[in-house]
Amino acid sequence: MDDGTEPGFNRTGAQSSPLSVHSMQLYADERVPEEVSAPDEMPDGKEMAAVRCDYAVEAERIGSVPMPGVLTSAFTAVVSKLGARKPEVLVDKLGERLAFERIGVRLYQALIDKAAALATQQRMPFSVDDLQRLRDDELAHMHVLASALDSLGADSTAQTPAAAVSAVAISGLMQVLTDPRTTLVHCLEAMLIAELADDASWELLISLTAEADQDQFLPQFRSARDNEKAHVRQIRGWLQTVVLGEAR
Ligand SMILES: [Fe+2]
Repeated sequence: MDDGTEPGFNRTGAQSSPLSVHSMQLYADERVPEEVSAPDEMPDGKEMAAVRCDYAVEAERIGSVPMPGVLTSAFTAVVSKLGARKPEVLVDKLGERLAFERIGVRLYQALIDKAAALATQQRMPFSVDDLQRLRDDELAHMHVLASALDSLGADSTAQTPAAAVSAVAISGLMQVLTDPRTTLVHCLEAMLIAELADDASWELLISLTAEADQDQFLPQFRSARDNEKAHVRQIRGWLQTVVLGEAR
């Protein structure tokens, strides 16, 4: 496999067939829907926005946050601190972080597999041990979150709404990592997106946890956040090394 930037016969741009540009434009113009074909009624996105707005207003919610089957004193404290109004926000966010860290383990395993496949063709800026350490950090974070949910009496195996949405958001990254055609650079860029989200999400969770007076979780959460900051630095550094190496 080349590094993905070798010149080739790419026909996606207009420059590959300048003589066809005019006919392509005509084709697109002819296919404007009749109801907006008058010059003063050209589509400007407002109709699409109106449809999206209607659906968003009428849609059912993605899911619900399961409330603790057993009310622990810790959860009662969350309810009381947050005014008994939205204790589920903390449970939802803990579930989201747990889901993201679980998928993070799989992302790193996919990167380890990709690196093993490419190691015979290019120099890696990291060792397998480096990647395994990052993967194991994500796994450790997942267990921290499961323990936090369990100690609140919440169900750490439940998929909360935020967890479900984050799984959809990260699914594109998994596709990049597992596509046989993607290069090391493509994969490191996908990992950087995941790690930046990890870092920001731990910051938010720490603020929410402090707000709910759940200080017993903060030391481990801060340690996880510090780990994530180190992950961002490492992935960013490796990405820079590989890209600059390819440009030379
Ligand atoms: Fe991470």
